[in-house]
Amino acid sequence: MSMTVRRMTRAATAGLVAAAALTAAAHSAEAADTLGSAAAGQGRYFGTAVAANHLGEADYAATLDREFSSVTPENEMKWDATEPSRGTFTFGSADRIVDHAQSQGMDVRGHTLVWHSQLPSWVGSLGASDLRTAMNDHINGLMGHYKGEIHSWDVVNEAFQDGGSGARRSSPFQDKLGNGFIEEAFRTARAADPAAKLCYNDYNTDGVNAKSNAVYDMVEDFKSRGVPIDCVGFQSHFNSNSPVPSDYRQNLQRFADLGVDVQITELDIEGSGSAQAANYTKVVEACLAVSRCTGMTVWGVTDKYSWRSSGTPLLFDGNYDEKPAYDAVLSALGGSGDPGGPGDPGEGTVSCTATYTRTADWNSGYNGQVTITAGGEPISSWTATVTLPAQQSVSSLWNGTPAWSGNVMTVRPSWNGTLAAGASTSFGFTVAKNGSDAAPAVGTCTAS
Ligand code: G3I
Repeated sequence: MSMTVRRMTRAATAGLVAAAALTAAAHSAEAADTLGSAAAGQGRYFGTAVAANHLGEADYAATLDREFSSVTPENEMKWDATEPSRGTFTFGSADRIVDHAQSQGMDVRGHTLVWHSQLPSWVGSLGASDLRTAMNDHINGLMGHYKGEIHSWDVVNEAFQDGGSGARRSSPFQDKLGNGFIEEAFRTARAADPAAKLCYNDYNTDGVNAKSNAVYDMVEDFKSRGVPIDCVGFQSHFNSNSPVPSDYRQNLQRFADLGVDVQITELDIEGSGSAQAANYTKVVEACLAVSRCTGMTVWGVTDKYSWRSSGTPLLFDGNYDEKPAYDAVLSALGGSGDPGGPGDPGEGTVSCTATYTRTADWNSGYNGQVTITAGGEPISSWTATVTLPAQQSVSSLWNGTPAWSGNVMTVRPSWNGTLAAGASTSFGFTVAKNGSDAAPAVGTCTAS
């Protein structure tokens, strides 16, 4: 099949696929008993890296399809897989993953366009002028093929050195094109697929350190000069030598404050049992505390296929059984691992309602209040969504814990999750009108 035909086919189906993904998220948010559905309840995606050659394994596919709402091809979109010789694009393995994801209503992250590793040798042997052309051709080739089908692309991966220097890493791109190659790659990427979020992705940038400072300075510079960048990916490969940094949330937040989304892109944490679970909880809680942290991806489905399999760093063991880390992540996402059933008193009957009132009003702002009332059974937690008119912004919120996705605020309890049957609590917030006096829309209340 020629590339042109394939691209048209892919683009034509993209709209239907997006609609399917929305339906899946809305449906599963009611149950919230999987990672993807619980994350959707928080306005986030929960993804995994996927290898095409495992899709035929029934347990692998079943776990993937049940639990995750986004996939990242682990190796199949890299340069060596997609353009092994100049101008010859091979998309077979990557297409298998994208097709599978779309058939399940999952979104796809693109990984990665410009990287020093898994780079065919022909790229390294080009002179500067040819290399620039080849880099742009590669970006256009991949992004054109998947146009409209990738929610976020890792445009440039791992361009900074480890250690204290904050310098750029030596690579054919850096050495022959200089610092400007990153900017050029992002500009080419924006033109190739304007709908995709464009990310810079790296490791050992998860806390505040010399490397993350260097990336921060680059993003700040890009934003100030209008270079297109939408997101920064924090790979988050952790083990005892590289533990979850204590300033992880703070670091995510400072990037978000530059005006970019942040994403946890390759999460894995070596270990086992409750210690591993506690570390996963830290990471999920950090993302949920940063409104522009739009999603998390773990770097594989099962320990047995992890690039660090001896460190058992993932959420499912080699038999696809859920580990304590899985329970911890699901719980941190507000989900419930209890599948329910006839023996569970009250299971399936918990409910709540959410009603909105404007409690104060002035020229430039107002206070809103949402009252949550439990139904005929006691509840231990609730979730309510408030969608604000586009111009408005929330300056403070009390008696609730907000998470943001665009202008949708998902609010969960702070101290006030437990309600007796028929009892009420409320949360309040102050809104800056910014020219719009319209009321926010309050969505369905979900109880557990
Ligand atoms: O498929 C071949 C197989 O045919 C061959 O027999 C075997 C022999 O070594 O190699 C297989 O390919 C390996 C491939 O993974 C698939 O398993 C490569 O050797 C191996 O180098 C490759 O490793 C990947 C690594 O990136 C390469 O840099 C890992 O799967 C992948 O998880 C890892 O992912 C990276 C991210 O892209 C960027 N951030 C760090 C992350 C972890 O290193």
